Amino acid sequence: MCGIVGYLGDHKASDIILSGLEKLEYRGYDSCGIFFHDLDHDQYITYKDKGRVKHLMDDFDYQFTNHLAIGHTRWATHGRPNLENSHPHFSLSKRLGIVHNGVIENYQELTAKYLSDITFSSETDTEVIVNLIEYFLDELPIEESIRKTLSLLEGSYALLIIDTHDPSIIYAAKSKSPLLIGLHPEGITLASDVMALIGHATHYYPMEDKTFAVVSQNNDVYEYQIYDIIGTKLSPELLEMDLVLDEIGKAGYSHYMLKEICEQPSVVRKIMSKYLDSETCRIPEDVISFFMDATRIYIIAAGTSMHAGFVGKYYFEHISHIPTEVFIASEFAYNQPLISSERPLFVFISQSGETADLRACLTKIKERKFPTITITNVATSTLAREADRFIEIHAGPEIAVASTKAYVGQVTILAIIAYQLAPHKPFSLARELSRLAVAMDAIIDKRDYIGRIVSDKLTHRNCFYIGRGLDYFTCLEAALKLKEISYIQAEGFAAGELKHGTIALIEEGTPVIALISQKRINHNTRANIREVLSRGAEVIVISLTDVSESADQVILMDVHEMLSPLLMVIPTQLIAFYSALHLNRDIDKPRNLAKSVTVE
Ligand code: M6R
Repeated sequence: MCGIVGYLGDHKASDIILSGLEKLEYRGYDSCGIFFHDLDHDQYITYKDKGRVKHLMDDFDYQFTNHLAIGHTRWATHGRPNLENSHPHFSLSKRLGIVHNGVIENYQELTAKYLSDITFSSETDTEVIVNLIEYFLDELPIEESIRKTLSLLEGSYALLIIDTHDPSIIYAAKSKSPLLIGLHPEGITLASDVMALIGHATHYYPMEDKTFAVVSQNNDVYEYQIYDIIGTKLSPELLEMDLVLDEIGKAGYSHYMLKEICEQPSVVRKIMSKYLDSETCRIPEDVISFFMDATRIYIIAAGTSMHAGFVGKYYFEHISHIPTEVFIASEFAYNQPLISSERPLFVFISQSGETADLRACLTKIKERKFPTITITNVATSTLAREADRFIEIHAGPEIAVASTKAYVGQVTILAIIAYQLAPHKPFSLARELSRLAVAMDAIIDKRDYIGRIVSDKLTHRNCFYIGRGLDYFTCLEAALKLKEISYIQAEGFAAGELKHGTIALIEEGTPVIALISQKRINHNTRANIREVLSRGAEVIVISLTDVSESADQVILMDVHEMLSPLLMVIPTQLIAFYSALHLNRDIDKPRNLAKSVTVE
């Protein structure tokens, strides 16, 4: 987690850092800080504090001319979120300043071996890195000291370092945590995410693991050199910037989450235009052939992406007839199941493509030489680059911490792949996806109605979602969304399982939201609804027209049963949104969370 930005160029560096940090705040928002060179007085200034980037912007003075700066927004791993632990951190002599995203696993060993005399001013592992560099400066020049330090670090890092002896250079290094170098004739920007480069780069380069970069100013020219860990120069392949500022704004919506919920019909249409040509799948053949060769699919994911994986399993088994298993990434990494299939395929599903738990699994799977595919929203991400193949979701940047449109994108892509692999096409996917997008538009247009239901009925501290079959998977996702942003304790249950224990929690007024889209099991779920009603539950039923009853609170247009998770999830996202709004929560940046979970 954490976001870092650096700038060296003709423009005011502090402005670029602060607006970059605002865009990276989704990566962590416990504290933030900036370190810059004040050219007017040839001195270095640090501002940092716990809290949000807004505080850093509003409550400090940036009137000085400055062209060199680094900044950080933090999701706390080592040490509490307070002023002392905020980045940047400094070496003992204050010669070196550093910002860091990642976790150094052997920082205690390194401290014991090299830095036992030092009294640190924070609890962070980052202070160890910067002091180690300074330790080696006794014998080595700066670049070699940095490289020597990097060779000793175990864990993950994206680092930006300023040496106060030279205000025309930023040093950067990366291993496992993302770091991009954005290029423009008027300056060079470095950042954890391409979003912070928008407007400041025409091209960019995602740094590779275990590489080191020197960004410098030579007269009026800004240059960069990339090296591997032993100092060999590398020639990076540049990518063109194709994101524009509009794509990362709120476009008039009060919250990113609401904007992203409302974008979902267009996400479905966009994915269709990318990957479906009438009834023909346009996912590249070399990717589809991985699926065709597989005798068993293993899906590995976390959180919302794992819930998409459950729907994917259903699709692969019911439409394509390929046995499929879904694993929680953090469990799979250290408790691998027996892989008995002759030709397994490992599919990693991740919005960000940076989730550390998945990266740990990918490394282990690659060691065993099994084929791997990543389905991700971020084409430049680590998981996209490190798997054998990747499929881009094309949902557009998702900025709210709570994932919505990426989930819809993931499930849509899984449906397209499963359909392509189907021995017999059970329905017209193109036609059904088009109908789905219309049905999505219809419920989104009626979102105020969901807002009213929520303020009447969701007043309890807990809530249960119940459903069967595909609806059960939507219940899991619905409950995660509700607890994540409203802090209401919510659980998703297979409706029939409730009576095996959890029904003990149902009392007068307990909200139970039932999802019904599957005709075959409609009457079973209805029976479960009666069971909770007779124990005093306050029930909200969300159903498709075909299986609805007149008393149901939310009735959605009919879509093909197989695609129902894509529609049923929308009212549940709106329920989460309006509950959080009602409770005055910080919807786009809920407490304790970060958008991309880059620590295990
Ligand atoms: O970027 P990823 O899809 O790999 O992230 C996985 C989870 O951290 C993520 O889905 C998380 O559960 C969301 N915040 C849920 O809204």
